[in-house]
Amino acid sequence: MNKKWWQDAIVYEIYCKSFCDTNGDGIGDLKGVISKLPVLKDLGINCIWFTPIYTSPQVDNGYDVADYKNIDPAYGTLDDFKTLLDTAHDMGIRVIMDMVLNHSSDECFWFKESRKSKDNPYRNYYIWQPPKNGKEPNNWGSYFREGNGSAWEFDETTGEYYLHQYAIKMPDLNWEYEPLRKEIYDMLNWWIDLGVDGFRLDVFTRLKKTPGFPDTTRKPNALDRNGFVADSAMCTNIEGIHDILHELYTEVFGKRDVMTVGEGAGVSYDNAPDYASAGREEIDMVYHFELGNRSKYHISPQNFREVQKNWATVFDKNAWAVQYLSNHDSARQVSCYGNDSDALRAPSAKLLATLLHTTPGTPFIYQGEEIGMVNVKYDTIEDYNCCYTLGDYHAMMEKGVSPKDAIDVLAPRSRDNARTPYQWNDRENAGFTTGKPWLKVNPRYKDINLEKDLTSKNSIFNYYKKLIAMRKDCPAIVDGSLEFILEDSEQIVAYLRKCMRQTLLIVANYSDKEASFKMPNEFSNYAFKRLLTNYDDNLPILEFNRNLLPYEVEVYELNKQISVKD
Ligand code: NOJ
Repeated sequence: MNKKWWQDAIVYEIYCKSFCDTNGDGIGDLKGVISKLPVLKDLGINCIWFTPIYTSPQVDNGYDVADYKNIDPAYGTLDDFKTLLDTAHDMGIRVIMDMVLNHSSDECFWFKESRKSKDNPYRNYYIWQPPKNGKEPNNWGSYFREGNGSAWEFDETTGEYYLHQYAIKMPDLNWEYEPLRKEIYDMLNWWIDLGVDGFRLDVFTRLKKTPGFPDTTRKPNALDRNGFVADSAMCTNIEGIHDILHELYTEVFGKRDVMTVGEGAGVSYDNAPDYASAGREEIDMVYHFELGNRSKYHISPQNFREVQKNWATVFDKNAWAVQYLSNHDSARQVSCYGNDSDALRAPSAKLLATLLHTTPGTPFIYQGEEIGMVNVKYDTIEDYNCCYTLGDYHAMMEKGVSPKDAIDVLAPRSRDNARTPYQWNDRENAGFTTGKPWLKVNPRYKDINLEKDLTSKNSIFNYYKKLIAMRKDCPAIVDGSLEFILEDSEQIVAYLRKCMRQTLLIVANYSDKEASFKMPNEFSNYAFKRLLTNYDDNLPILEFNRNLLPYEVEVYELNKQISVKD
């Protein structure tokens, strides 16, 4: 397969609201992003993914789009965006937009029309159903658990319910209706004409709903409310989804030089090729939620090997995927999967980065990860913003949990952990804004900030720079096979990446204790060249047996030595 630009891209995700505020309103903006492009260039990334920056009432921070062809005034103007595009392109940085095609805001013109009357031309842009026995059409629950917990909201004007898998103010779009589909295609082409390089497709597996809207038979769980069950199975990977995606491809993506990456629950190594194999003509790559255990926030070496091996089969099938551990929907990776103590934050952040950037796929960096930003904990629910956290909190209050206990449970997994303002320096509000930040700054900013990292040779930021630069010089990382060694180890993750031109060995002590290490005999004929270490260049190379330090990671290039016998 001919290599595509996105296969060796390094993508950087920007959550604009929390990135850099230039006008003192406490909200990040596009001018702020433009001002920071040189730092991103210096880091080595070559593609930016913007979470939604369209006009939006911000119920779900932009995933509730009111105008798909405009920029939210809090972020700037369309002209600012064009300037950003030109500036980024001049620097060799591509820009991809988040496209929310499953739902819009109820403040979108389409929905405002749709709810006016049953015969409005926009009525079928959304999913309307009459009441069943005077009640909701079925027992589906919404993920954000607002109102009574149902995924249906009654609308007085026409006496019908509309479907919203997420917030009440986020009605689902009706992909069965051709005029809606055509409108979406025009809109996507409009963005491509403007110069964007691709799209991240929000919840792309959920565009098709179970026909006939039957009740789910899944039993309510502890957070479901009033018998309504938030069962993703009713709207995820439903038969017919591939037709929708294929049409999107033939009408838009396949005709243009753009990259598409699909975000979706329900994507696993066994069905990913159905979406992302080149021959399917649907999307270019997927990202999945299989690495780590998001209820316990833990990755064991065994878990890491298993997931990477499963996903290697996806690459073998000519499909492509993303390597990431954190984004705007998760807690901070170093807090969850590393160790955010003062002593181990830096080595573990570097270890996680190395594992993600040296396994097959395109690495996505989430803003702040490159300086090791960590989780935050607020004392009261008033300080939280994330819809899931608020919905779950209210469900817990209904069930008699105390506010403190609820926050103790919700804080470690809240999406707000990832959304605190970027920590630029150790001055007021971490240099993010001169005003009042929309979400409180993480108090650890005095110690964890970019300015500090830029001045320290061994900082996490400078390690990311070296890692990215190394990756660009190593063909085996993008093209090579993946082969684990020392598979019985409960502390060490070690693997080879091999292509015709190169063999790499990555060895990581994925634990907070020292690990004894013995190089397998099969490598005795090789010369070891160390390309990267997250500790000290003076440490002996691993050709010799020695203990690995907590979270130590090393990358070697191996070259077979020609002996007299050979
Ligand atoms: C996935 C997005 O990443 C998340 O932030 C959002 O809340 C949901 N989709 C709904 O759009």
